Formats: sequence, C-alpha cells, structure tokens
Amino acid sequence: MVALTWAVLSVFTLAAHAGTTLWSGSFNAYSTAADFDKWSWSNQVGEYQWYIHGSQPTSHYLALSPSYKNPADTAETNGLKLSIDSTSTWNSQFERSELIPQTSANLGTGNLFYHFSVKRSATNAPDPTMEHQVCFFESHFTELKYGVGSNPSNLVWMVQGVEKWGTPFTADTWFNFAYDINFSAGTVGLWASTGSAPLTKVVQNIAASTSTNSADWHLGVLRLINGPGTEDWYFSGVYVESGPITTSIGTGSGGNPPPTTTTTTTTPTSTTTTPAPGPTQTHWGQCGGNGYTGPTVCASPYTCVAVSPPYYYQCQ
Ligand SMILES: *[C@@H]1O[C@H](CO)[C@@H](O)[C@H](O)[C@H]1NC(C)=O
Repeated sequence: MVALTWAVLSVFTLAAHAGTTLWSGSFNAYSTAADFDKWSWSNQVGEYQWYIHGSQPTSHYLALSPSYKNPADTAETNGLKLSIDSTSTWNSQFERSELIPQTSANLGTGNLFYHFSVKRSATNAPDPTMEHQVCFFESHFTELKYGVGSNPSNLVWMVQGVEKWGTPFTADTWFNFAYDINFSAGTVGLWASTGSAPLTKVVQNIAASTSTNSADWHLGVLRLINGPGTEDWYFSGVYVESGPITTSIGTGSGGNPPPTTTTTTTTPTSTTTTPAPGPTQTHWGQCGGNGYTGPTVCASPYTCVAVSPPYYYQCQ
C-alpha cells in the first residue's frame, strides 16, 4: 500500500515536472501590471527585469488575466497580454516591449529548455508587413520572427538568422515552444505543440553560437519598423529548465515557489549609496547622439557605431 502510493506519487511527479526549473517566469506573483514596476536597477526583485518599453505607464503595455493564459496551463493563475504601439519606441526607432529574466541562476550552461507559449487574437493582431523579433537572445542565435520571409504571416523559428521551421500564426491558437539549447555542444533545436498537446521535437539540434549572460533573453516583441498600429501578444507558461525536458503543458512554470516580491517595506531608495549597475544598450538600439540620454554602453558583443553623427549612434 505504502509502496503503491509512493509509486503513484513518483509517476505524478515525473509527469508534472521532468527537469529542474532554473528560472520560473511565472506570473503568479504578479496580480497587476504595477507589480512589474517594483523591479528597478536598484531593487532587482521578482521574476522579471522591466526596462525595455515605451514612454507610457506599464499598464499601457502589460496586463494580466486568467483569460490571457493558455487554458491548459493549470500551474499559472494569469497569462500576460503584452502590447506595442507608436509610443513603444525604446532608445531607438524600434518599438519594443520586452521582459528579461531576473535571476542569479546560470541560464547559459549545460542543456537547457526555454519554455513559453504565445498567442495572438484577431483584435490588435500583429501586422505581417513589419518584421517582429519575438523571444530572442541578444545575439539572436535563436528566436522567433513574424512578418519576414516568403510567408510573412507565419511564425518562424530561426537559428543565426536562418529560418528552420514555421507555422501559420493563426488567431486564438496557443503555440507552445521550448528552445532546446545545448550550451556545451553549441547547438539549438526546437520543441513545439499547440493548445494542450505535449511538446514534440520538431527540429533536431543545429550548430549555433549559443551564449547568454543569463539576462539577455527577451520575452516579448520588438517591431523593427515603426508602425502606428497597436498589437497585442499573449504569453503564458514561461520557465527555463535543465533536462530532461518537461513535455506536458502547464505544469512547469508555476511549480516553483512564488518569487519574493518584497512584502512592501517600501521606502524610496533615495538614501542608498551603492550605485546601480547601468543598463547596457541592446543590438540595434541607440547608444548616443545629440539629446540622447539612454544607455551608452552596448551589450556584448556589440559596439557603438556612429551611424549618423552627431545625431545617431547605434549598437551593431
Ligand atoms: C550536450 O553536448 C555535450 C557536448 O557535446 C554532450 O556531451 C551532451 O551529451 C549533450 N547533451 C545532450 C542532452 O544532448
């Protein structure tokens, strides 16, 4: 009897969660968009860094609701609606709403799986005439894109900028993904499914310049060409695990203890003496020019190039 119970529990545990979650991007501890604002360079709390966005309040770009998640994801209370529009330009001519992992874990070693689910609806649908970079690493060794290639209404998966897989980005379908990255071998493959179906491997691992500083994976969207239209993108089930991969949907991300969003002993940190590390500018972002006040240091391996001095300098 005892043995049987243990066996049943073991099977359940295995089915629920095959690998070890290194970083949970769960939204369970975020009840409103304002919770993302608790993070700052001098107060690095929660699951996400939130600094790559436009000029409006966070609630203009991020919203949480149970109706925004993949319904198959029982571990998550909420999904995220992430929006971009003409106010979303960030340190460049590009429109961006992107969340970055907040973690001290090493997200760039061994064989890791970067899990997320993405959806669009027919309302505020992404514009296929403009290039979008979705869930990308700073070096773009792997990413999703939309609005590119011979079939711009496809959501495509790329390795080093070359398309390896694609699927029509139909409305109201949840697309589940895991980037399968072997940082030791320098390879990346893709797992995918839709709805509640378990992930299957759709592209075997391919050589790539795999690297991350554990704070340069962008959950969100960069629209490469300025456009006036509002777009809504939905994300759910975000986590990074070390192998073996969890193929079932909705059991991985929320399995972690909720993040330690400091129980509001909030004193404005005007008296802190330790200077916060400054943000670095991302690939294609502005890094200098007349009147520019943003980051002037480019993230590795990019350098600040005088594209149109003295008005515009860009990380390339
Ligand atoms: C990752 O790559 C290393 C080095 O090539 C290899 O030994 C290891 O088996 C790979 N891991 C997986 C899960 O394929």
